[in-house]
Amino acid sequence: MMVAEGMILPHAGRLLVLLPGLGAVATTFLAGVEAIRRELAYPFGALSQIGELEGEDNERRRIPEALPLAPLEDLVFAGWDIFPEDAYEAARQAAVLSEQDLAAVEDFLRSIRPMPAVFDPQYVRRLDGPHVKRAPTKRHLAEALIEDIERAREEMNADRAVMIWCASTEVYTPPGKCHESLRAFEAALEANDPAIPPSQIYAYAALKAGVPYANGAPNISADIPALEELAELQRVPVAGKDFKTGQTFLKTVIAPALRRRLLGVQGWFSVNILGNRDGWVLEDEGSFRSKEVTKTGVLEGLLPAERYPELYGELYHKVRIHYYPPRGDAKESWDAIDIVGWMGYPMHIKVNFQCRDSILAAPIVLDLALFLDLAQRAGWYGVQSWLSFYFKSPHVPPGEPVEHDLFLQYEKLHQALRSLARMALTSSFQDRAGWDRR
Ligand SMILES: NC(=O)c1ccc[n+]([C@@H]2O[C@H](COP(=O)([O-])OP(=O)(O)OC[C@H]3O[C@@H](n4cnc5c(N)ncnc54)[C@H](O)[C@@H]3O)[C@@H](O)[C@H]2O)c1
Repeated sequence: MMVAEGMILPHAGRLLVLLPGLGAVATTFLAGVEAIRRELAYPFGALSQIGELEGEDNERRRIPEALPLAPLEDLVFAGWDIFPEDAYEAARQAAVLSEQDLAAVEDFLRSIRPMPAVFDPQYVRRLDGPHVKRAPTKRHLAEALIEDIERAREEMNADRAVMIWCASTEVYTPPGKCHESLRAFEAALEANDPAIPPSQIYAYAALKAGVPYANGAPNISADIPALEELAELQRVPVAGKDFKTGQTFLKTVIAPALRRRLLGVQGWFSVNILGNRDGWVLEDEGSFRSKEVTKTGVLEGLLPAERYPELYGELYHKVRIHYYPPRGDAKESWDAIDIVGWMGYPMHIKVNFQCRDSILAAPIVLDLALFLDLAQRAGWYGVQSWLSFYFKSPHVPPGEPVEHDLFLQYEKLHQALRSLARMALTSSFQDRAGWDRR
């Protein structure tokens, strides 16, 4: 998609939202979008629907009025899963929403049937399912996904598409040689290199097909040089990773506050219980390692030991996640924070968040889909670090520091949205000028 400098292509037609993984998050997102469209629900938590932008004159405007986002009415959906059940059955199994809320959008959810997935239980060791593609190499699998994308675009009569990874957390696979360049990555696809997990095949397929990609899970996906190179080459935006929803969301609010008051932090113990399928998958050590890396990385930048060894040099940060079926998707987290004040006196903070995982994640999926599509229409491509606000482990271009402070992330997001709003204004003036000349 070639866009003139400083211009935003207007939204027209339909936007296809592609979802690898039709589990708790994806089906809660789908049901919510349809409930909002039917005026049965209010878009709590979705900046793209109810957020505000502040202009230079301090005038506030609602985001959907300031930005030419695709309206909810024009969204269409497709997805992949290793289980063949439609989105209604998947949502019932996920048990996030009540029977009554699901019944109100049953016809819509039933119309979404997953395409066979690219999957290998080697990368998600606690799951296996029958609805998977078979092919001789990973290159063939990528091509099959590209065909799926093209077919879905055609069937849905969609002008554009975005892909948001909502599938299970894969085991931690450290980046290797084959991730260093696009050339090496493509050779590795051909050679069936075990260093390439399914999420990277989806990300590759999306970028090849010119589709923006965001990774909602903690595993390494598009955040490798090979796929960054492909995103630049194809002029497609990418973002990631790991939706920032519950405990980490609060951590990135509390830690900056402690840091600004220059209070010491000796220890931060975070524990979670959850009983959904995600929790079951995270019981596996390999998948947990992916999550542990994104969850524990947060405090290092927020409480810098090198700048304040007296305050943060001794910081002990531990994160645990326990699978506990009775809770289902209603995750509960506890944080025990040991802080130090004037003359070295210890104090303690306890945080208990009784949240609902997918209820917090669903509006993030919506915002990412709409903002990535807008970024692409504005000609923004490559790694979109202004979307860090939504992620536990923000994907940033090489050399750019990672920002975890939620308020600084919000500032950056707001600035980017304001630039997009200014571009939209200029574009509409230019459109009008063109219209007048005709
Ligand atoms: N809910 C949150 O607050 C939150 C926050 C951060 C990250 N996440 C991440 O989002 C992802 C989705 O979470 P969830 O609660 O919906 O999990 P879930 O287990 O309910 O859903 C994941 C779905 O992905 C499917 N799947 C697994 N591998 C696949 C593949 N290769 N291709 C297609 N489908 C595949 C599974 O069959 C399952 O239906 C997880 O990785 C989770 O860690 C969730």
